[in-house]
Amino acid sequence: MDFLSKFPDKFFDLIIDDPPYGIGEDGEKNGTRSKIAISKSYVCYSGNDKDAPPKEYFQELIRVSKRQIIWGANHFISRIPFDSSCWIVWDKDNGMNDFADCELAWTSFPTAVRKFKYRWHGMLQENMKNKEIRIHPNQKPIALYGWLLNNYANPGYKIGSPHMGSQSDRIAAYKLGFDFWGCDKDKHYFEAGNIRFRQECFGETKTSKGTLVQASLF
Ligand SMILES: C[S@@+](CC[C@H](N)C(=O)[O-])C[C@H]1O[C@@H](n2cnc3c(N)ncnc32)[C@H](O)[C@@H]1O
Repeated sequence: MDFLSKFPDKFFDLIIDDPPYGIGEDGEKNGTRSKIAISKSYVCYSGNDKDAPPKEYFQELIRVSKRQIIWGANHFISRIPFDSSCWIVWDKDNGMNDFADCELAWTSFPTAVRKFKYRWHGMLQENMKNKEIRIHPNQKPIALYGWLLNNYANPGYKIGSPHMGSQSDRIAAYKLGFDFWGCDKDKHYFEAGNIRFRQECFGETKTSKGTLVQASLF
Protein backbone atom coordinates (compact mmCIF):
# COMPACT_ATOMS: atom_id res chain seq x y z
CA MET A 1 0.00 0.00 0.00
CA ASP A 2 2.93 2.37 0.79
CA PHE A 3 4.46 1.62 -2.62
CA LEU A 4 1.21 2.13 -4.54
CA SER A 5 0.27 5.31 -2.66
CA LYS A 6 3.28 7.06 -4.24
CA PHE A 7 1.74 6.93 -7.73
CA PRO A 8 -0.95 9.13 -9.31
CA ASP A 9 -4.18 7.69 -10.74
CA LYS A 10 -3.68 5.39 -13.76
CA PHE A 11 0.11 5.87 -13.72
CA PHE A 12 0.88 2.30 -14.83
CA ASP A 13 -0.28 1.06 -18.20
CA LEU A 14 -0.15 -2.49 -16.82
CA ILE A 15 0.40 -4.00 -13.38
CA ILE A 16 1.31 -7.67 -13.28
CA ASP A 17 0.91 -8.66 -9.66
CA ASP A 18 1.77 -11.91 -7.86
CA PRO A 19 0.86 -11.28 -4.22
CA PRO A 20 0.81 -13.83 -1.38
CA TYR A 21 -2.15 -16.16 -2.02
CA GLY A 22 -2.80 -17.02 1.64
CA ILE A 23 -2.07 -20.75 1.16
CA GLY A 24 1.12 -21.12 3.21
CA GLU A 25 3.45 -21.50 0.19
CA ASP A 26 6.24 -19.40 1.69
CA GLY A 27 9.04 -21.89 1.09
CA GLU A 28 8.93 -24.27 4.03
CA LYS A 29 6.74 -26.92 2.33
CA ASN A 30 8.64 -27.09 -0.97
CA GLY A 31 11.33 -29.50 0.15
CA THR A 32 8.96 -32.34 1.10
CA ARG A 33 6.14 -32.56 -1.45
CA SER A 34 7.63 -33.44 -4.80
CA LYS A 35 7.54 -37.04 -6.09
CA ILE A 36 9.37 -36.46 -9.40
CA ALA A 37 12.25 -34.25 -8.29
CA ILE A 38 13.67 -33.16 -4.98
CA SER A 39 12.92 -29.49 -4.52
CA LYS A 40 15.04 -27.28 -2.37
CA SER A 41 13.97 -25.56 0.84
CA TYR A 42 13.86 -21.78 0.88
CA VAL A 43 13.96 -19.06 3.50
CA CYS A 44 10.34 -18.19 4.38
CA TYR A 45 9.34 -14.76 3.14
CA SER A 46 7.77 -11.78 4.84
CA GLY A 47 4.21 -12.53 6.07
CA ASN A 48 4.65 -16.32 5.56
CA ASP A 49 1.93 -16.40 2.85
CA LYS A 50 -0.65 -16.41 5.67
CA ASP A 51 -3.15 -14.16 3.91
CA ALA A 52 -3.70 -12.46 0.55
CA PRO A 53 -3.86 -8.65 0.53
CA PRO A 54 -7.16 -7.04 1.65
CA LYS A 55 -9.86 -5.58 -0.61
CA GLU A 56 -8.49 -2.03 -0.10
CA TYR A 57 -5.18 -3.12 -1.62
CA PHE A 58 -6.84 -4.20 -4.87
CA GLN A 59 -8.83 -0.93 -4.99
CA GLU A 60 -5.52 0.95 -4.71
CA LEU A 61 -3.93 -1.31 -7.37
CA ILE A 62 -6.77 -0.53 -9.77
CA ARG A 63 -6.55 3.21 -8.93
CA VAL A 64 -2.90 3.45 -10.03
CA SER A 65 -3.15 1.29 -13.17
CA LYS A 66 -5.06 1.15 -16.45
CA ARG A 67 -4.84 -2.64 -16.83
CA GLN A 68 -4.16 -5.46 -14.41
CA ILE A 69 -3.06 -9.10 -14.42
CA ILE A 70 -3.30 -10.66 -10.94
CA TRP A 71 -1.87 -14.13 -10.32
CA GLY A 72 -3.52 -16.41 -7.77
CA ALA A 73 -6.81 -14.52 -7.89
CA ASN A 74 -8.80 -17.78 -7.76
CA HIS A 75 -7.76 -17.85 -4.08
CA PHE A 76 -9.11 -14.35 -3.27
CA ILE A 77 -11.45 -13.28 -6.10
CA SER A 78 -14.02 -11.91 -3.61
CA ARG A 79 -11.51 -9.18 -2.77
CA ILE A 80 -11.12 -7.88 -6.34
CA PRO A 81 -14.16 -8.37 -7.28
CA PHE A 82 -14.91 -7.96 -11.01
CA ASP A 83 -15.91 -10.52 -13.61
CA SER A 84 -13.36 -11.30 -16.30
CA SER A 85 -13.66 -13.00 -19.68
CA CYS A 86 -9.89 -13.28 -19.83
CA TRP A 87 -8.35 -15.45 -17.16
CA ILE A 88 -4.87 -16.65 -17.99
CA VAL A 89 -3.91 -20.26 -17.37
CA TRP A 90 -0.28 -21.24 -16.86
CA ASP A 91 -0.05 -25.01 -17.36
CA LYS A 92 3.06 -26.03 -15.44
CA ASP A 93 3.15 -29.50 -17.04
CA ASN A 94 4.43 -30.77 -13.69
CA GLY A 95 3.24 -34.40 -13.68
CA MET A 96 1.62 -36.22 -10.75
CA ASN A 97 2.26 -34.53 -7.41
CA ASP A 98 0.60 -32.49 -4.66
CA PHE A 99 1.28 -29.17 -6.38
CA ALA A 100 -1.44 -27.54 -8.50
CA ASP A 101 -1.32 -28.45 -12.22
CA CYS A 102 -1.93 -24.85 -13.30
CA GLU A 103 -1.85 -21.31 -11.96
CA LEU A 104 -4.57 -18.81 -12.81
CA ALA A 105 -4.43 -15.06 -13.29
CA TRP A 106 -7.43 -12.74 -13.31
CA THR A 107 -7.09 -9.95 -15.86
CA SER A 108 -8.93 -6.73 -16.68
CA PHE A 109 -8.69 -7.51 -20.42
CA PRO A 110 -11.93 -8.00 -22.40
CA THR A 111 -10.48 -10.83 -24.51
CA ALA A 112 -10.72 -14.64 -24.20
CA VAL A 113 -9.13 -17.11 -21.80
CA ARG A 114 -5.59 -18.00 -22.91
CA LYS A 115 -3.22 -20.77 -21.86
CA PHE A 116 0.57 -20.75 -21.64
CA LYS A 117 2.17 -24.18 -21.30
CA TYR A 118 5.64 -24.14 -19.78
CA ARG A 119 7.11 -26.96 -17.72
CA TRP A 120 8.19 -25.85 -14.24
CA HIS A 121 8.76 -28.44 -11.58
CA GLY A 122 11.76 -28.20 -9.26
CA MET A 123 14.82 -29.11 -11.32
CA LEU A 124 12.65 -29.94 -14.35
CA GLN A 125 12.09 -26.95 -16.59
CA GLU A 126 10.73 -26.40 -20.09
CA ASN A 127 14.05 -25.04 -21.30
CA MET A 128 16.56 -27.54 -19.85
CA LYS A 129 19.39 -26.19 -22.02
CA ASN A 130 19.04 -22.75 -20.48
CA LYS A 131 17.75 -23.49 -16.98
CA GLU A 132 16.86 -20.67 -14.63
CA ILE A 133 18.50 -20.63 -11.22
CA ARG A 134 15.71 -20.72 -8.65
CA ILE A 135 16.13 -18.35 -5.73
CA HIS A 136 12.51 -17.97 -4.49
CA PRO A 137 9.85 -20.53 -3.42
CA ASN A 138 7.18 -19.00 -5.71
CA GLN A 139 9.49 -18.07 -8.60
CA LYS A 140 7.75 -17.89 -11.96
CA PRO A 141 9.72 -18.36 -15.20
CA ILE A 142 11.06 -15.31 -17.03
CA ALA A 143 9.48 -16.85 -20.15
CA LEU A 144 5.99 -16.60 -18.58
CA TYR A 145 6.43 -12.87 -17.97
CA GLY A 146 7.91 -12.47 -21.46
CA TRP A 147 4.81 -14.13 -22.92
CA LEU A 148 2.51 -11.85 -20.87
CA LEU A 149 4.35 -8.71 -21.96
CA ASN A 150 4.41 -9.79 -25.60
CA ASN A 151 0.66 -10.48 -25.54
CA TYR A 152 -0.77 -7.88 -23.14
CA ALA A 153 1.57 -4.86 -23.30
CA ASN A 154 2.35 -2.40 -26.08
CA PRO A 155 5.75 -0.72 -26.61
CA GLY A 156 6.13 2.22 -24.23
CA TYR A 157 3.87 0.78 -21.50
CA LYS A 158 4.85 1.53 -17.91
CA ILE A 159 4.84 -1.80 -16.05
CA GLY A 160 4.38 -2.23 -12.28
CA SER A 161 4.93 -5.16 -9.91
CA PRO A 162 4.25 -4.64 -6.19
CA HIS A 163 5.42 -8.19 -5.23
CA MET A 164 8.52 -8.87 -7.33
CA GLY A 165 9.90 -11.90 -5.44
CA SER A 166 12.73 -13.29 -7.58
CA GLN A 167 12.35 -10.42 -10.10
CA SER A 168 11.57 -12.63 -13.11
CA ASP A 169 9.09 -9.92 -14.14
CA ARG A 170 11.73 -7.18 -13.90
CA ILE A 171 14.17 -9.25 -15.98
CA ALA A 172 11.58 -9.91 -18.71
CA ALA A 173 10.54 -6.22 -18.75
CA TYR A 174 14.17 -5.08 -19.02
CA LYS A 175 14.96 -7.53 -21.83
CA LEU A 176 11.88 -6.45 -23.77
CA GLY A 177 12.60 -2.74 -23.30
CA PHE A 178 9.80 -1.73 -20.90
CA ASP A 179 10.05 0.83 -18.08
CA PHE A 180 9.40 -1.02 -14.83
CA TRP A 181 8.67 -0.13 -11.19
CA GLY A 182 8.60 -2.83 -8.51
CA CYS A 183 9.02 -3.61 -4.82
CA ASP A 184 9.14 -6.50 -2.37
CA LYS A 185 8.79 -6.25 1.39
CA ASP A 186 11.24 -9.04 2.16
CA LYS A 187 14.83 -7.76 2.45
CA HIS A 188 16.44 -11.16 1.80
CA TYR A 189 14.49 -11.75 -1.42
CA PHE A 190 14.73 -8.11 -2.52
CA GLU A 191 18.53 -8.30 -2.34
CA ALA A 192 18.69 -11.78 -3.90
CA GLY A 193 16.40 -10.58 -6.70
CA ASN A 194 18.58 -7.53 -7.34
CA ILE A 195 21.66 -9.75 -7.66
CA ARG A 196 19.77 -12.08 -10.03
CA PHE A 197 18.59 -9.12 -12.12
CA ARG A 198 22.12 -7.71 -12.45
CA GLN A 199 23.49 -11.16 -13.30
CA GLU A 200 20.82 -11.87 -15.95
CA CYS A 201 20.72 -8.43 -17.52
CA PHE A 202 24.23 -7.02 -17.08
CA GLY A 203 26.27 -10.25 -16.83
CA GLU A 204 27.48 -9.32 -13.32
CA THR A 205 28.87 -11.89 -10.89
CA LYS A 206 29.88 -10.99 -7.34
CA THR A 207 33.13 -12.59 -6.11
CA SER A 208 35.35 -12.06 -3.06
CA LYS A 209 37.56 -9.90 -5.29
CA GLY A 210 34.71 -7.65 -6.42
CA THR A 211 32.12 -7.66 -9.19
CA LEU A 212 33.04 -9.32 -12.47
CA VAL A 213 31.24 -8.51 -15.71
CA GLN A 214 30.93 -11.11 -18.46
CA ALA A 215 32.63 -9.26 -21.32
CA SER A 216 31.07 -11.46 -24.03
CA LEU A 217 27.72 -9.75 -23.38
CA PHE A 218 29.02 -6.51 -24.86
C1 LIG B 1 4.01 -14.97 -4.67
S1 LIG B 1 5.53 -14.23 -4.25
C2 LIG B 1 6.02 -13.45 -5.77
C3 LIG B 1 6.82 -14.40 -6.65
C4 LIG B 1 7.28 -13.77 -7.96
N1 LIG B 1 6.23 -13.67 -8.92
C5 LIG B 1 8.42 -14.54 -8.59
O1 LIG B 1 8.34 -14.90 -9.79
O2 LIG B 1 9.42 -14.78 -7.91
C6 LIG B 1 5.01 -12.91 -3.24
C7 LIG B 1 6.10 -11.95 -2.78
O3 LIG B 1 5.46 -10.88 -2.07
C8 LIG B 1 6.31 -10.43 -1.04
N2 LIG B 1 5.47 -9.72 -0.05
C9 LIG B 1 4.72 -10.23 0.95
N3 LIG B 1 4.04 -9.26 1.58
C10 LIG B 1 4.35 -8.09 0.94
C11 LIG B 1 3.96 -6.74 1.10
N4 LIG B 1 3.11 -6.37 2.05
N5 LIG B 1 4.47 -5.82 0.24
C12 LIG B 1 5.35 -6.18 -0.73
N6 LIG B 1 5.77 -7.44 -0.93
C13 LIG B 1 5.28 -8.39 -0.11
C14 LIG B 1 6.99 -11.68 -0.52
O4 LIG B 1 8.23 -11.37 0.09
C15 LIG B 1 7.14 -12.51 -1.81
O5 LIG B 1 8.43 -12.34 -2.36
